[in-house]
Amino acid sequence: MTKIDFNDRMLSLGLARVSEAAALASAKLIGRGNEKAADQAAVNAMRDQLNRLDIKGTVVIGEGERDEAPMLYIGEEVGTGNGPEVDIALDPLEGTTLTAKDMPNALTVIAMGPRGSMLHAPDVYMDKLAIGPGFRNGVVTMDMSSAERVNALAAAKGCSTDDITVCVLERPRHQELIDELRSTGCAIRLITDGDVAGVIHCAEAAVTGIDMYMGSGGAPEGVLAAAALKCMGGQMFGRLTFRNDDERGRAAKAGITNLDRVYTRDDMVTEDVIFAATGVTDGSILAGIRREPGYLTTETILMRSKTGSVRRMTYRNPT
Ligand code: FBP
Repeated sequence: MTKIDFNDRMLSLGLARVSEAAALASAKLIGRGNEKAADQAAVNAMRDQLNRLDIKGTVVIGEGERDEAPMLYIGEEVGTGNGPEVDIALDPLEGTTLTAKDMPNALTVIAMGPRGSMLHAPDVYMDKLAIGPGFRNGVVTMDMSSAERVNALAAAKGCSTDDITVCVLERPRHQELIDELRSTGCAIRLITDGDVAGVIHCAEAAVTGIDMYMGSGGAPEGVLAAAALKCMGGQMFGRLTFRNDDERGRAAKAGITNLDRVYTRDDMVTEDVIFAATGVTDGSILAGIRREPGYLTTETILMRSKTGSVRRMTYRNPT
C-alpha cells in the first residue's frame, strides 16, 4: 500500500472541529461541580469527531493506559483508517476542576503529527520550564536555579526582575520554588490547574502578562504544551520526575531508558505538527463558551508549526 503523506494544511480544519466538538459537549457541565461528567462528555465528543477524520491515527497521549481508560486510551486507533498514519496527543478537557467550578482557562486540546513525531510521555510528573519567542537559545536552562532563571530572563529582556511574571501551579510541592522566586522580586501568577494553558501564556507575553512558566505538572500535558510552542515559537524544557518504582515502570513501558534526560521542545515534538485548542471557560488566551438562546459560540486557536500560522476562529453552533 502506498504511504499517504501527512497533509497538515488539509487536516487542520478537521482538527479544529474535533476540539470544538469536545468543548461544546462540556458546555452544559460548566460550573456544575461534576468533573467526571464534564470530562466524559468531552471525551465522547472528541472521539466521535476524530473517528470521522480520514486518518489512520494512533493516540499516543490520551486518557490513560488501556486498562484505566475505556476511550481515547494510549494506543487506541482512531479515524476512518483511510488516510495518513498519524500520532495524536489529546486532552479532551484540560482543567476538569476548572470546568466544574467555572474557573478560568479550561481548554480542550489536541495535536496531530506524522507517526513517531511525539514523545510517548508516561503518566508521571514533568518538571517544566518555558519562555516565549525572541530569546537566544538557552537563555534559561533546567540547570539554573529558579532565581538564576528570573535574573537571566530579566537581563535578556532588558528589564528589572520586578517586571518579570512567572506562572506556577499552586501546589504544596512548589512552596520552595515560590519562596525562591519571591526572593527575586518577580511576580508570580499562581494557577490552580491547567498548565498547558500556563505554558502557552508565555508565547503571548504581551497579551497574557506571563514571561515564564516553571514547576512540575503532568508529563502528557508537557508534550501538548511543547506542540503548542512549536507552532507559536518559544523554548520549553522538561525532565520527568518519579516518586516510586511504579512510575519508573511506566517510563520503562513507554520505552524511556534515560530517566534523567532533559527534553527540549523539539525532543518532545520532533516533526511538524498541527495543534488546536478551544476555550471552555474564559481565559487569557481564549474566550470561553458563550451561551445565548439557541446558540453556543466557541473560540478556537488553530496552529501549524510548519508555517507558524496561528488562527483564532469563532464558531456559532445552533443548539
Ligand atoms: P485535569 O484536567 O486532568 O484535572 O488536569 C489538570 C492539571 O492541572 C494539569 O494541567 C496539570 O499538568 C496537572 O493537573 C497537575 O497535576 P496535579 O494536580 O497532580 O498537581
